[in-house]
Amino acid sequence: MKNVIYCFSGTGNCLNLAREIKEEIVALGGGETEIIMMRKEPVKLDATDADRVGFVFPCYAGGLPGGVAETISRIRIRQDAYTFGIVSYAAYMGCGLNDINKIHRLDYWGGVSHHCSCIWLFPHFMTMPMQSIEEAQERNKEKAKTFAKDIVGRKYKKTAPKMLPNKIESMAWLKGLQYKKGAKLQADPDKCIGCGQCANLCPRDNIVVEDNSVFFGDHCINCLGCLQYCPQEAISMGGLTLKRERYHNPAVTAEDLMNEQN
Ligand SMILES: Cc1cc2nc3c(=O)[nH]c(=O)nc-3n(C[C@H](O)[C@H](O)[C@H](O)COP(=O)(O)O)c2cc1C
Repeated sequence: MKNVIYCFSGTGNCLNLAREIKEEIVALGGGETEIIMMRKEPVKLDATDADRVGFVFPCYAGGLPGGVAETISRIRIRQDAYTFGIVSYAAYMGCGLNDINKIHRLDYWGGVSHHCSCIWLFPHFMTMPMQSIEEAQERNKEKAKTFAKDIVGRKYKKTAPKMLPNKIESMAWLKGLQYKKGAKLQADPDKCIGCGQCANLCPRDNIVVEDNSVFFGDHCINCLGCLQYCPQEAISMGGLTLKRERYHNPAVTAEDLMNEQN
């Protein structure tokens, strides 16, 4: 048996979850499992050698992060492969699972809440339910056990994931609001040491660092990895974000996110 998990992750929660699921699948004897990151092109699109194919991704503005649906639509999956989708969110699952289900029919799906990466909207601990980072990590682990058991046992959900009202929010987001928010990213030249991590981490190659100056382009998808992982806390979106505590998943480094496979 071979399993492939496609993962998008901005600040590590989804990669942490995908790794927990992988570990459990392997522990249950469910077979070799590969995590392929859907961050930077080129993404390995041929999954026809996999018996089970999954997608682990975050909820952004009620839907999928920019470009993820397009990448998923190019992934080739065998007709008899078992498919699953798992969403990580702060407060609500959104309609991302429903969007993926329209591209590759999902046999199984689920979600788990974790700390919020959307620093300009909420402090990271404003989750539903409220939970400490340690509790959220424990929850990820426990949920991963359930997901892996169901996946290895080829459990089928009787209903398709719901088409939620968040669809409108997500469409507005994907139509351009994300780029407007991304345009507000800025780097403090007094704090920046020109390490270039933000540029290497950006899934859309939207950042250029020259000397100690950081330039943000116009196709940011707002994953906020650059801001949340900056070792100098030099990157902000101005206003509230200057004072808000940074967050990224404690078990996932910027280097982990940059690997094509995990
Ligand atoms: C731009 C953006 C939009 C978000 N929108 C939502 C949302 O609509 N609902 C929600 O519950 N969480 C939302 N979140 C929170 C993320 O879904 C959550 O923190 C997720 O665990 C992040 O996964 P990652 O660390 O793998 O990127 C948003 C985060 C970002 C960066």
